[in-house]
Amino acid sequence: MMPQFDEIQRRGLAVRTVAEDGALAPRIGALSDSIWPRFVVEAHTPRNHPYPADWPGIFARWPQYQFGLLDQDTDELVGAAHALSFAWDGAGADLPDFGWDWAMWQGKQDYLAGATPHTMCALSITVDPRYRGQGLSTLLVSIMRDATARAGFTRLLAPVRPTLKHRYPITPMAVYANWRNQRGEPLDPWMRVHARLGATIAKPCDKSMNLAGSVADWESWAEIPFPTSGAYIFPGLFAPVVIDRESDEGVYVEPNVWMVHDVSA
Ligand SMILES: CC(C)(COP(=O)(O)OP(=O)(O)OC[C@H]1O[C@@H](n2cnc3c(N)ncnc32)[C@H](O)[C@@H]1OP(=O)(O)O)[C@@H](O)C(=O)NCCC(=O)NCCS
Repeated sequence: MMPQFDEIQRRGLAVRTVAEDGALAPRIGALSDSIWPRFVVEAHTPRNHPYPADWPGIFARWPQYQFGLLDQDTDELVGAAHALSFAWDGAGADLPDFGWDWAMWQGKQDYLAGATPHTMCALSITVDPRYRGQGLSTLLVSIMRDATARAGFTRLLAPVRPTLKHRYPITPMAVYANWRNQRGEPLDPWMRVHARLGATIAKPCDKSMNLAGSVADWESWAEIPFPTSGAYIFPGLFAPVVIDRESDEGVYVEPNVWMVHDVSA
């Protein structure tokens, strides 16, 4: 048994996948919807975007890599982790600027083509706010690392969504991702979790998540009016949203950072 499973048990928790328990999928969906910003949950992929997102599809294609972390006694869902496998096996430096959207699209193409997967890709982790600050996110990343090794892959890729980037919305990700704290670790706490587990930064993915909505949608998500076309910031964004009143569309292109876990050791 891997050490993190001892730790999970010690904390009175258990891991179940959607493959093992199909009823987990809507419970995880409800947890995510209650936590993630509305602009992430409710927006759609911009028109003519090459990598249309298909979030619900991950539950059907890779149920074995959709993990719930549950309280052993109450069966309460305390956190979730999402990953997929795909055939892509390139060098970290060749990872695309399109991170999260691309990973889901590439995974779907490879899955539909029946291509043999070689690599795991993490998509997201969510911890219920009542259980934060206890290191559970580290356990959830470890669960994905373990699944990667058990699948016989050597790498877990992650288009990491740095949790403090929204406080620096005008700083380019290439600059932000290299900021360090006094211990020489990434300044960003979420990048730090990955780095402590052994992940390295491959490169920024400046077009990771592409989110679109009508002007009214964005005004509702931002809770302020956008009277003229142009770029705007509101709390939670990593970069400006560009509002075009003429076409009645706002597009937000979120930069993330590709990090790579080598689990071969
Ligand atoms: C990000 C998230 C998964 C972290 O979960 P968690 O279990 O509370 O994290 P941990 O207890 O393992 O803490 C991880 C690190 O983040 C730091 N941290 C946690 N919350 C923080 C906050 N609000 N601001 C700054 N740092 C914070 C912790 O101090 C820790 O760093 P340290 O060990 O150097 O002190 C959780 O906050 C969450 O679900 N957020 C919403 C979804 C999200 O943003 N997911 C990540 C992108 S996929």
